[in-house]
Amino acid sequence: MTPLLALLKRRIAAEGPITVARYMAEALGHPKHGYYMTRDPLGQAGDFTTAPEISQMFGELLGLWCADVWLRLGRPNPVLWLELGPGRGTLMQDAWRATKAVPGFHQAVRLYLLETSPVLRQRQATMLEDAGPCWIERLADLPDGPLLAIANEFFDALPIRQFQMTETGWRERLIAWDETNDALSFALAPNEDPAVHLIPSSVRQAPPGAIAEFCPTGISIVSDLGHRIGSAGGGAAIIDYGPLTSAAGDSLQAVHGHEFADPLDRPGENDLTAHVDFQTLARAATEAGAVVERLETQGDFLTNLGIAQRATALRANASASQCAAIDAALRRLTGTASDAMGGLFKVLSLVSPGLAPDTAAP
Ligand SMILES: C[S@@+](CC[C@H](N)C(=O)[O-])C[C@H]1O[C@@H](n2cnc3c(N)ncnc32)[C@H](O)[C@@H]1O
Repeated sequence: MTPLLALLKRRIAAEGPITVARYMAEALGHPKHGYYMTRDPLGQAGDFTTAPEISQMFGELLGLWCADVWLRLGRPNPVLWLELGPGRGTLMQDAWRATKAVPGFHQAVRLYLLETSPVLRQRQATMLEDAGPCWIERLADLPDGPLLAIANEFFDALPIRQFQMTETGWRERLIAWDETNDALSFALAPNEDPAVHLIPSSVRQAPPGAIAEFCPTGISIVSDLGHRIGSAGGGAAIIDYGPLTSAAGDSLQAVHGHEFADPLDRPGENDLTAHVDFQTLARAATEAGAVVERLETQGDFLTNLGIAQRATALRANASASQCAAIDAALRRLTGTASDAMGGLFKVLSLVSPGLAPDTAAP
């Protein structure tokens, strides 16, 4: 039994079943036993690999997207550059290098990293020494001002609430202790919770047995970003996996050593994630004052930014084996095969009103 499982067992015995959101928050962020508090989970030796760890092209293009928004804003100085959940700092290191040649950009930038993991903060400090970042634990700690924000695989790590449709209406999915099997198990709340009204309206009509999810923290963060971008100017690119339109379904998943695991097994030892509901995020950001520039697949986003041309430029000075690696990375980042990210991952790009072409509200 992991230390966190023992702790949760005691807590459930004392206080009763907990929400899925509480379980996720503890499993990922418990100050002593939380998954992100104790390790660097990225890379071949870890549990999963992300786009910036696959190729430098990913961070470079996102950096140039941010610099382009800054130019379109009229080169504000200072401008806040925020990465949410920067992992090892690889994305920002590539973005920083790629934007070095944009006149005045680095002089104007104040770099902020929203990160809870002490282990990953240390890696980020080494990777981003030249950029002089400041770390924050919550968005409220960010000063006011024009803002450029990037979040890759950050929103999928935020706690979700789950609800199941029953013959008598929506009931919150809880996590209880199963004495027979001496393990965690799913249960349902006996009564309706007022929060069911936050389930996206298109999902609320789902039949009995259906699962609905929403992410209160994600909605709150994107609303804050939308408000800042709408009032002070700026842009944000949110990249993650999930559907373009809200849908019913249980997307809570655990990964360990690049394999799927049982989400209720070994809390604190597995990565836990849920699909990102891009339609809901887009609506929250729009209501807060930002404009949706585009909501599209990662493949389309990177292709529009010129990833094929960047790959060609990199190949020009590369050995045969490096060329093969560049081609493989290009396929993995933009392709739609089952092992590729191009179709599965989506990008929500937000900008301040006036910077985007006319876009219908989501
Ligand atoms: C899946 S990793 C993605 C890392 C990086 N963006 C990349 O693409 O390689 C999630 C990142 O979000 C951070 N994180 C997770 N939950 C967080 C929270 N509630 N607040 C701040 N950072 C968080 C993790 O420590 C980690 O840096």
